[in-house]
This record gives sequence, C-alpha cells and structure tokens, in this order.
Amino acid sequence: MLLGVNIDHIATLRQARLTPYPDPIAAAKLCMAAGAHGITAHLREDRRHIQDLDMEQLASMDLYLNMEMAAQPAMVAIACRLKPQAVCLVPEKRQELTTEGGLNVAAQQDRLRDVVRTLQDAGCRVSLFIDPSIQQIDASVAVGASVIELHTGHYANINGDARQQECAAIATAAAYATSAGLEVHAGHGLTLENTPAIAAIKEITTLNIGHAIVADAVFKGLQQAVADFKTCMQR
Ligand code: PXP
Repeated sequence: MLLGVNIDHIATLRQARLTPYPDPIAAAKLCMAAGAHGITAHLREDRRHIQDLDMEQLASMDLYLNMEMAAQPAMVAIACRLKPQAVCLVPEKRQELTTEGGLNVAAQQDRLRDVVRTLQDAGCRVSLFIDPSIQQIDASVAVGASVIELHTGHYANINGDARQQECAAIATAAAYATSAGLEVHAGHGLTLENTPAIAAIKEITTLNIGHAIVADAVFKGLQQAVADFKTCMQR
C-alpha cells in the first residue's frame, strides 16, 4: 500500500502569516525522502493554502504529483498546462473548513465525462473522490475514470459500532470498485489511530494523508511523521 502525503497544511501555516516559510517544496522533498510514494496538493479556488506557484514548482519536480482540484474550467486549464501525473476531482464549497463529502458523480455525469476525458487527453490519471456508494462507483465507471478515492472523512469522525459499520461499507465499496475495474485509493481524516483498519482493506492501494501528518510533524518532525504513518499502514 502506497502513501501519498498531502502537503496543503504546510502552505496553510505559511499563508497564516504570508511569510515565505514553511516552504511546501522543501516539505515535499522531505516527505519523498521519508518514503512517501507521491505528493498530493489541492489548488483550491479560493487559494487558501496551496498557491499557483507551489503547484507549478511541484509539477516541475521529479516526483509523483496528485493534484486535487474542483472540476471547474479554470482548474482544468491549469491541470492541462501543468500535466501532473494524477488529478483527483473533489467537490469544493467556499465556506467549508475542509472537503465535506464526496463528489456527486451520478448527478453530473455528462459534465464530468468531458472533464475526465480532457484531463486524460493531457496525460493525467484521473481519480474521483467519492463516498463509498455503489451508485457513485457505477457513475465513476460510466464517466471514464480509472481510479476512485474513497472518502474516509465520515469514518474518521465517528466511533464505536458506527465506525465499524462505516469501515465495512468502505471495504464493500472497495471490493465492488475493484471488480468493476477501478483502482481504489482512500483518504481524509486519517490518523495513526484510525488508519490501520482502512489499511487492512486489501483492495485499497493508496492512502492520501495530510492534516495528521503535518500535525504530528510539529512534535516529531516531518520525516518521522511520514515514517510512522508508513509503519502504521504496513502493520
Ligand atoms: N484526499 C482528498 C481527496 C482530500 O481532499 C484530502 C484533504 O485535502 C485528503 C485526502 C487528505 O485529508 P487529510 O488532510 O484529512 O489527511
């Protein structure tokens, strides 16, 4: 199982003071040195953390870049110009603290089919960030995506039996998506405590983790934080 490190919140810290530091590019290098498979960064329409220049620099580096973005024309144009190895389409609302829920692929198939094809023609692997729902998985296949990322945010926010049920729903969705020919990733809200149960789902090939890694890095350094997540995923 591979680890994509989301470095958005390195940029959040920088944007809080509009200082030149901490530098997301330096962070990306440290994460890769610590064993990350790739770097994920979300260029939000409101530019609250990652900036255009960050994404340009990340795209010019020798690493696997997964660009998260809304399926909007201006973002599609940027992705087609930068040609990251992968693009993950996410829903975006201006007022949200973080991405809330998955993309409703089923409700916008015609539009997303065009976006997916445009990005694939530019050479990007396209994944769709969706809730663990059979309807959304079927729609993801229908619009031509080759990868889905299952939203683990709800799983991360609940406890006890409810969490176990959500984990089972994610496992069922992962198995269904794999049998439908999709590659399955997962992410959002994952911590050292809640990652092992998701990492145990054999159909999930990549986890994208950001906030908890950056938070842990405050106490133990970024490389150690990445290394600890890698160990926790392998257990
Ligand atoms: N995957 C996707 C699609 C996301 O939008 C995010 C958050 O930007 C993550 C993974 C990482 O979530 P977290 O920062 O909670 O680990």
